[in-house]
Amino acid sequence: MSITSNPHMQIQAETDLARRFPAHFLWGAATASYQIEGATREDGRGSSIWDDFANTPGKVYGGDTGEVAADHYHRVEEDTDLMVRLGLGAYRFSIAWPRILPEGRGRINPAGLDFYDRLVDTLLAKGIEPFVTLYHWDLPSKLEREGGWLNRATAYAFADYAEIVTRRLGDRVANWITLNEPWCSAYLGYGIGVHAPGLSNRQAAIDAAHHLLLGHGLAVPRMRAHLPPGAQVGITLVLNQIYGADERAETARDVELANEFSNGWFLDPIYRGAYPERFFEHMALNPPPIQEGDLDSISAPLDFLGVNNYFRILVRGVRTQPPADSIEGVVPVPNACYTDMGWEIYPNGLRDLLVNVGRNYPVGKLYVTENGAAFPDVWDGGDTVSDPLRVDYLRAYITACAEAIEQGVPLRGYFVWSLVDNFEWSEGFAKRFGLVYIDYPTQCRVIKESGYWYAALLDAFRKG
Ligand code: FCB
Repeated sequence: MSITSNPHMQIQAETDLARRFPAHFLWGAATASYQIEGATREDGRGSSIWDDFANTPGKVYGGDTGEVAADHYHRVEEDTDLMVRLGLGAYRFSIAWPRILPEGRGRINPAGLDFYDRLVDTLLAKGIEPFVTLYHWDLPSKLEREGGWLNRATAYAFADYAEIVTRRLGDRVANWITLNEPWCSAYLGYGIGVHAPGLSNRQAAIDAAHHLLLGHGLAVPRMRAHLPPGAQVGITLVLNQIYGADERAETARDVELANEFSNGWFLDPIYRGAYPERFFEHMALNPPPIQEGDLDSISAPLDFLGVNNYFRILVRGVRTQPPADSIEGVVPVPNACYTDMGWEIYPNGLRDLLVNVGRNYPVGKLYVTENGAAFPDVWDGGDTVSDPLRVDYLRAYITACAEAIEQGVPLRGYFVWSLVDNFEWSEGFAKRFGLVYIDYPTQCRVIKESGYWYAALLDAFRKG
């Protein structure tokens, strides 16, 4: 038990780490609607592509669904109290589009808006700053039946929805994220079918990505029109630093390709107003249906970039140039440690990523909007759950953030994924990412040692 074995050393180490962050740095934790809320059929919520996907046999491990999840919908008081116990300064959550607009557009469900209104007020009353994500993958099913993100009209529906939510919460919420990881929505959802809606068509991924980006771009001015001047609007991308395993020319080429696919596909249109040159050729696919003005909308100026990062990618070049999404990775990396997701633990990857993104794109400021690790935690009925590997992971990745800041990166905050154990998409409840353990049969919450560790770090930070 790293926390109690040598409390003095431990607290000293946390103080030293905490001191490396500037006074205004924000510390938080993140969640997403479908992963924690449950109550999927209550108070007028419509169904989403994740309800449909999870209810399709064989799609989610163990047949798990988000129907109850962490029952957060009924436990806002308890869960926000947990945030207070952890000492969080900020909480990132997402809004379920089908709670607000059960059919995706048109009729508004007042009970949906009321739920998030209460959540925001509760957070503010407890001194926690809300970061709202508008789309964390739960597209209303009705819109999917009309083509989902393959249909350009979904981008317009998203902008309408974004405006509705901003009008209601914009007087109190200052931090807005349009989309979470559109790379995953497009590629995992439409390209290879491991996420909802479960299509396996690589060209569809390219087209869906464009409409996701367009939805983002159309939403930004609609949101700003209802936000006070101090409010900030950004987007969250999943990004990975790419390294070459050797010095060969093929490896250098494949590093570039992997970088286009993992990072440039979304960063370039947002920050440069163009897809990476020859990207579609490198994917051996057609460009998406781009209309005049789309890239101007997509590259609307943002106040910050949210970065989600879990691992790096180590590339070994192959002789004949492969499609950009079929690059050969070194797996497993010799002597490396992996999380329960099979993701390599490589904290320098986050540092290098932040430095490079900050250097290569005009991001203004950055937040790490997700970072964390799944491990097979076990609760023995006691007061806490021992998770020393997660403590080590967080300490190492947070140290990497400190190093990035010391190298001049304008990093303004860090959010642990996740506040509580939750529905890990196609892995169901089998993977646990929380600072807080959820005993699903009883919905009992137990703060893990990593939660206490994070609380100690934040406490040290506040004491300066
Ligand atoms: C990210 C997702 C988040 C969570 C983590 C582990 O890709 O944004 O919802 O599942 O991975």
